[in-house]
Amino acid sequence: MFEAQIKPILEEYCGDCHLDGAKKGGLKLDGWESVEALKKDHQTWTHVLEQLEHRIMPPSKEPKPKDDELNKLISLKVIYSRYIHS
Ligand code: HEC
Repeated sequence: MFEAQIKPILEEYCGDCHLDGAKKGGLKLDGWESVEALKKDHQTWTHVLEQLEHRIMPPSKEPKPKDDELNKLISLKVIYSRYIHS
């Protein structure tokens, strides 16, 4: 699920500033390679989803995820929070 649904979106829209050694704002998304990793780091992940949901990230000059991509991530939040709290 992570590889197929989450990673491509993070790489495309967040990578320049938060991947491969870049860590703007102290946020580094490297090392998230599975849903298990997200589960361990669920505070950061929840924070990331909140930024997306409220359209805070990516910064306004940058390309934004399309609505359907965003909705996909946001729906994962629901699935995901069930998963970590179960
Ligand atoms: C053009 C560079 C750039 C891109 C692209 C970008 N960010 Fe950021 N991000 C920043 C900068 C700069 C900060 C720190 C300053 C700030 O908070 O505005 C930041 C901070 C953050 C924070 C921490 C905010 C806080 O206050 O704790 C999160 C979470 C975040 N980004 C998530 C994302 C996600 C998710 C994406 C992809 C959808 C993304 N960012 C894309 C530059 C970027």
